[in-house]
Amino acid sequence: MKTYLVTGGAGFIGSNFIHYMFGKYGDDIRIINVDKLTYAGNLENLKGVEERENYTFVKADICDKESIRKIFQENDIDRVVHFAAESHVDRSIKAPEVFVQTNVLGTAVMLNCAKEVWELPDGSFREGKKFLHVSTDEVYGSLPDDENAYFYETSPYEPHSPYSASKASSDLLVKAYVDTYHFPANITNCSNNYGPYQFPEKLIPLIINNALQGKKLPVYGDGKNVRDWLYVDDHAKGIDMVLEKGKLGETYNIGGHNEKQNIEIIHIILETLQEMLSPDDPRKALVSEDLITYVEDRKGHDRRYAIAPDKIRAEIGWEPETMFKEGIRKTIAWFFEHEEWMKNVTSGDYQKYYQEMYQDK
Ligand code: NAD
Ligand code: DAU
Repeated sequence: MKTYLVTGGAGFIGSNFIHYMFGKYGDDIRIINVDKLTYAGNLENLKGVEERENYTFVKADICDKESIRKIFQENDIDRVVHFAAESHVDRSIKAPEVFVQTNVLGTAVMLNCAKEVWELPDGSFREGKKFLHVSTDEVYGSLPDDENAYFYETSPYEPHSPYSASKASSDLLVKAYVDTYHFPANITNCSNNYGPYQFPEKLIPLIINNALQGKKLPVYGDGKNVRDWLYVDDHAKGIDMVLEKGKLGETYNIGGHNEKQNIEIIHIILETLQEMLSPDDPRKALVSEDLITYVEDRKGHDRRYAIAPDKIRAEIGWEPETMFKEGIRKTIAWFFEHEEWMKNVTSGDYQKYYQEMYQDK
């Protein structure tokens, strides 16, 4: 039975990954979830998992070397799936330091603790061990509006925001461990995810939540920045496949060939909400194109991201499965069924965050 150490498993993608893995492997795996429970970590995301005997939650900071070392010493970890990070670009522009702390230093701690227990006296590593570092396409910078330009694994690193610079630094640390020690790792660089449990600071859940309350829908700049959207389950599946089939030391880009301008995304959400809300639902009258509000652009706003997932398709056999229309309906249906979740995450600190982030826009 394999033991997975998942970091950041109470966040958006980490919690979806844990649900995916238990859905697929049931009692045949063990998962230890280490999460500091920042504003983005929410144990409500793991309802239905917490009572499993093959699941353990540890509240810890990945920068805390002693706590992380103890987990590695007390458990024979086979796979590290490293999600834990500060993940929101706008927050990184306002307060960069914590991004360096968690994303760079935290990754260094994770790598070092894994190396300590996996390395043999001759410098080789114990059979079957793997560290998967979950990263982002933002490390490659920004593409022009040319539809034929894509990010490849060989594209140069050119991060622009403090967030992407910190993720690029963490990727380079992983690569340095591979080059220096032959440390058994993979890196995945994925495009924008969407789906259940996504915190409403990110575009898609923020627009769904605001539209249902008849609140303004803030569009940065001209609304024509392009992102390549992937349903979160497809990402979880890709990670599992790279864990099983990825060649040690390699990087794999994960993306859905689903590039859309932000303004297109907003129109699709509004149309889908109108289709899905019943005529007698009072929210139906609130959902309107009139809510769209162009606001000041994000500083250093990357224009376009687009992944060419050729390598992961050819070497691993992964392909995106969820069409955007279907994925967005599933996402909206999930938010309809989880009104309490949204109420809980948007009470308290979120109101303060929203005020501060959008007041000048
Ligand atoms: P998220 O912000 O929803 O979740 C991050 C989780 O990490 C939270 O549970 C938080 O409590 C935890 N965490 C933060 N600091 C920690 C610390 N110091 N110690 C322990 N836990 C800590 O993020 P997400 O959107 O789920 O992203 C997960 C990973 O995937 C990140 O590494 C991110 O860079 C990467 N990624 C995200 C996307 C996306 O579209 N969201 C796309 C590509 C890659
Ligand atoms: O590409 C992968 C990355 O995708 C991940 O590494 C990040 O963790 C994740 O947050 C995401 O980054 P983005 O900055 O692309 O996502 P976000 O949802 O913040 O913004 C998507 C686009 O929408 C971007 O062009 C900015 C724009 N936007 C965003 C918000 C929150 C708006 O126009 N209005 C908004 O209110």
